[in-house]
Amino acid sequence: MQIFTGNWKKNTKLPELPRSNSVIIGKYETGLMYHNFNKFAHMIVAGTTGYGKTNFIKCLISQLNGEIILIDMKGGFDYGIVTATDIQQARTELESVTAQMKQRRKSHIYVIVDEAGELLPPDHLKRHDDKEPYLACLSAISEIARLGRGFNTHLIYATQYPTKDILNGQVKQNAETRICFRLPTDVASRVALDEKGAEELPSGQFGLGIYKKDYKMEFKAFEFVERDGWDAKVRNPQTKGSTDTFTIE
Ligand SMILES: Nc1ncnc2c1ncn2[C@@H]1O[C@H](COP(=O)(O)OP(=O)(O)OP(=O)(O)O)[C@@H](O)[C@H]1O
Ligand SMILES: [Mg+2]
Repeated sequence: MQIFTGNWKKNTKLPELPRSNSVIIGKYETGLMYHNFNKFAHMIVAGTTGYGKTNFIKCLISQLNGEIILIDMKGGFDYGIVTATDIQQARTELESVTAQMKQRRKSHIYVIVDEAGELLPPDHLKRHDDKEPYLACLSAISEIARLGRGFNTHLIYATQYPTKDILNGQVKQNAETRICFRLPTDVASRVALDEKGAEELPSGQFGLGIYKKDYKMEFKAFEFVERDGWDAKVRNPQTKGSTDTFTIE
């Protein structure tokens, strides 16, 4: 496989986004790569630990224009924008999204799960009552994946462990867009991308990934840099994501 290694220049200003609900994913051989959430509603993000999933999600969030529901049970975000940090909160938020989305709202909701594996009931839980909040979350996620497209509701679902449990059929069938950073094996790559290849991405190149939907391309994500006011902007659905929030390397 041809490996693309294009790096970003420092302090490059990103251009204005061409249309709402589109974001810049990164850079590829001949230019910037955009993703339009109106066309492709949901996204799976996979990659070995430390290869850039959380960074990538921060870049997305800072460009999105809509309500962000961010479920982070791993503590990757310390910006005050997290909506749920444990399974009970996750359940409340997700069930509120499934109830709200059917009211056919105009504005978009982005449901972001950073580490989908945290929504699976841990093995040590034997009683159904203990598993219930996990099962409720998984069922809400499936519903968002299945129906969200028609209700301006998007799922961005990230995991370090692309296994069939975590990326179940409902989610995979409905999330055609895959963002995949380096993975340890071709087996993991097949689950995340439906083909091998992510295991061949070079080691030590963080943020270098494969973007796949109806076509497939290698890209380099930009590096998110924290700035004052970032969380205020994200919380306000009226404010269009500004594109000068990044330092790019
Ligand atoms: N696009 C990028 N360009 C340059 N460096 C990057 C990029 N993405 C990630 N990195 C570097 O890699 C580090 C780890 O990235 P990140 O926290 O996003 O990984 P992760 O995939 O979320 O890992 P984990 O699964 O452990 O949560 C970042 O702190 C940053 O230094
Ligand atoms: Mg992370």
